Amino acid sequence: MYHLGAARTIAQLGGIYRSNAESKLQDSCDCDFKPNIRDLEWDLYKNLYGQHLAQDIVSEEVTRFLQNKNPERPLVLSFHGSSGTGKTMVSSMLGNHLYGSAMSSPYVHQFVPTLHFPLPGRVKKYREELKSWVQGNLTECARSVFLFDEMEKLPPGLIDVLEPFLGPSHVVFRTNYRKAIYVFISTTGEEVINKMAVENRQAGQDREEIKLADLQKAIAETVYNSNTSGFFHSSIIQQKLITSFVPFLPLSRHHVERCVRSQLCQRGSCARSDVVEAVGGDMIYTPSSGKYFSSTGCKAVPAKINLFL
Ligand SMILES: Nc1ncnc2c1ncn2[C@@H]1O[C@H](COP(=O)(O)OP(=O)(O)OP(=O)(O)O)[C@@H](O)[C@H]1O
Ligand SMILES: [Mg+2]
Repeated sequence: MYHLGAARTIAQLGGIYRSNAESKLQDSCDCDFKPNIRDLEWDLYKNLYGQHLAQDIVSEEVTRFLQNKNPERPLVLSFHGSSGTGKTMVSSMLGNHLYGSAMSSPYVHQFVPTLHFPLPGRVKKYREELKSWVQGNLTECARSVFLFDEMEKLPPGLIDVLEPFLGPSHVVFRTNYRKAIYVFISTTGEEVINKMAVENRQAGQDREEIKLADLQKAIAETVYNSNTSGFFHSSIIQQKLITSFVPFLPLSRHHVERCVRSQLCQRGSCARSDVVEAVGGDMIYTPSSGKYFSSTGCKAVPAKINLFL
């Protein structure tokens, strides 16, 4: 049995190893892959608040990627933004609408650095383990999804081991590794994203006027230059192997209140506008001049609802 990090075995992480004969069978029927793009788009537009850039990019890139029966390279998305803005939520939506058994599919692989790669001194060992683990899971199912959350806690130098899997390189593995989807998630870049959002507000513009092009470049630079991004001086960034950097904007009080109302409705208390108002008023908003955006996005909403309900 292979091990990924000290903490859990590969099987526990969701990857399955079978005999070669069975692997071939899996490749030919695309495993549990049952993408439903319309449902994904609906979920993004209905349940993700205040994130027009993420909605557009994720819908467009996933659609484009899946329409191509023979992609030249995998889909590689990198999500950035402050805490509680919906990054992990969107990564779950992807799993939910791409596989028959949703996020519990054995072909959706989630990595948590603090759990799987806890010791910075063991990078060499982790590199070997990560590479053989990704390769093993791709052999099992070409349509695998790999989610790397909390990238800022990933030891520098580790992620580059995935470089051959992410590009259109000539290195050929036993499977079509170009059909996989990778999602990296971190808060790195939140300063540039939030700065742009504040300037947009101060200029009295619509949130939708925040354009992607300026942000993409700024995020790529920040990620490359920050030694806590997981991509510090990474050849993955240098070689432009990230299909798209996806900015998550800070959420305003209006968005927080939508989160509160939606969660209240799920609990059967749709009518409690007093709780919506109370939770909205109880968040901390930044910057101190203007108080435009919730410092924890929608993250603290369930705890605060318990307080006021
Ligand atoms: N933009 C949003 N629209 C609707 N709900 C949201 C949004 N952002 C966050 N939420 C709610 O808040 C919860 C926490 O968000 P999520 O875990 O996706 O944050 P995150 O961006 O991954 O933060 P962190 O960087 O701390 O991990 C979600 O499960 C969801 O209920
Ligand atoms: Mg998260």
